[in-house]
Amino acid sequence: MLGRKRSPLDWTDLVWLLFILGLAILPPVHEIHKQLILLGFGVFQFLEGFLITRMPDRGRTYAVLIKIALATLLLDHTGEIGINSSYYPIYFLPVITAAIYFGPLGTLLWTALASLGYCSYLIPALQEYELGREGATILAIRILFFFLAGILVNRFVLENRRQVQRYQALSETLEETNRQLRRAEADARRSERLAALGQMSAGLAHEIRNPLGVIKGSAEMLAQKLQDAQPLASELAGYISSEVNRLNALVARFLDFARPTNLELRPQHIPEIVDRALKSVRDQMPGASVRVERHYAPDPPEILADEQLCERVFVNLIQNAYQAMESQVSEPEGVLDVSITPESSNNQDGVGIIIQDSGPGVPPESKEQIFNPFFTSKKDGVGLGLAIVAKIVDDHRGWIRLENDSLPGARFHVFFPRAQQ
Ligand SMILES: Nc1ncnc2c1ncn2[C@@H]1O[C@H](COP(=O)(O)OP(=O)(O)O)[C@@H](O)[C@H]1O
Ligand SMILES: [Mg+2]
Repeated sequence: MLGRKRSPLDWTDLVWLLFILGLAILPPVHEIHKQLILLGFGVFQFLEGFLITRMPDRGRTYAVLIKIALATLLLDHTGEIGINSSYYPIYFLPVITAAIYFGPLGTLLWTALASLGYCSYLIPALQEYELGREGATILAIRILFFFLAGILVNRFVLENRRQVQRYQALSETLEETNRQLRRAEADARRSERLAALGQMSAGLAHEIRNPLGVIKGSAEMLAQKLQDAQPLASELAGYISSEVNRLNALVARFLDFARPTNLELRPQHIPEIVDRALKSVRDQMPGASVRVERHYAPDPPEILADEQLCERVFVNLIQNAYQAMESQVSEPEGVLDVSITPESSNNQDGVGIIIQDSGPGVPPESKEQIFNPFFTSKKDGVGLGLAIVAKIVDDHRGWIRLENDSLPGARFHVFFPRAQQ
């Protein structure tokens, strides 16, 4: 019931001890039982912390019960008749303890029990004396004050508890905001890096493309001219031409990545696009043994997106997943898990798509780099796939993250904001 753990010992316990000592040197000083009971109070004050830490639930009940018992015993040894003992305020101890540990109802019940303990001394007293009107009034006033103290302390404690909870909630929100901020910063750094690299590769690609055109044209002419006269030279010219084609294709991909994209934004239904991407990769790699598991939410919101670029995003991700699972020889069948759910990020509603494979995953040291252009771990890779993905997602004001901290495979999480009405 208490939000925080009570520390086993603190300075208030010492003040407590002084209070007990004070009671001990007041009359009756030579009543050994009284001193023993006070000692009991003192010792229990130290044990209470441990008791509560050990048994958080029952410990509180025991603490109040023990204090009621000790208080009742003390009264028996501090007055001719217990009910007249001037030590009766000792019942404030169990009452306040209950008010600290329990809610309002619990406090009332425990106070009632403490009052009962006190009133139990009426039974022996009534056998010898009569309870006059004045005596009854005094007793009632004392008991009412028990209740008053319990309720007041309980109210204060509850308010305090609520305050603590409020601060806890606040600090959690702050932490979450901080986390989001750090993530947004990382995303921003990545897009800046991509933009700079994109510009550079665009310039380079242009410069390379022109001479390539000339080389290719010349090689084709050479091949034609030498076709009959010198077959070997013609074959070599053919190589030049076909390699130039390869280079051209590469340059085209650089440009693809670097070109400022003109988005043709239309409301799109993500599951259809993802399904098309899945089919397209399956057609490209018919031999792959991959089981696709789809978890699509029934009606995710539409997003405003460029259909072709969006499909490119998923084709690239799924292609990588297929390749990663293919590379794992020990696992004969790969599992590709694709899920689509409505999500919100930074107070923006949208769609979250998770593509998770059962491949070897991304090693931690590459996590930062995989979105960089030209980063690849594959023999014949180019390293532009994820860079293009990141750029397209950025252009759509979404985000993509690799989330494979606790998984064997890789898990890419993409978010697209929903189309505004
Ligand atoms: N699903 C995945 N599982 C493991 N590694 C991956 C996965 N997707 C991407 N990677 C890593 O990221 C690198 C970059 O991917 P990408 O940009 O698509 O370029 P490429 O596929 O040409 O290597 C890959 O070479 C690989 O190391
Ligand atoms: Mg790739």
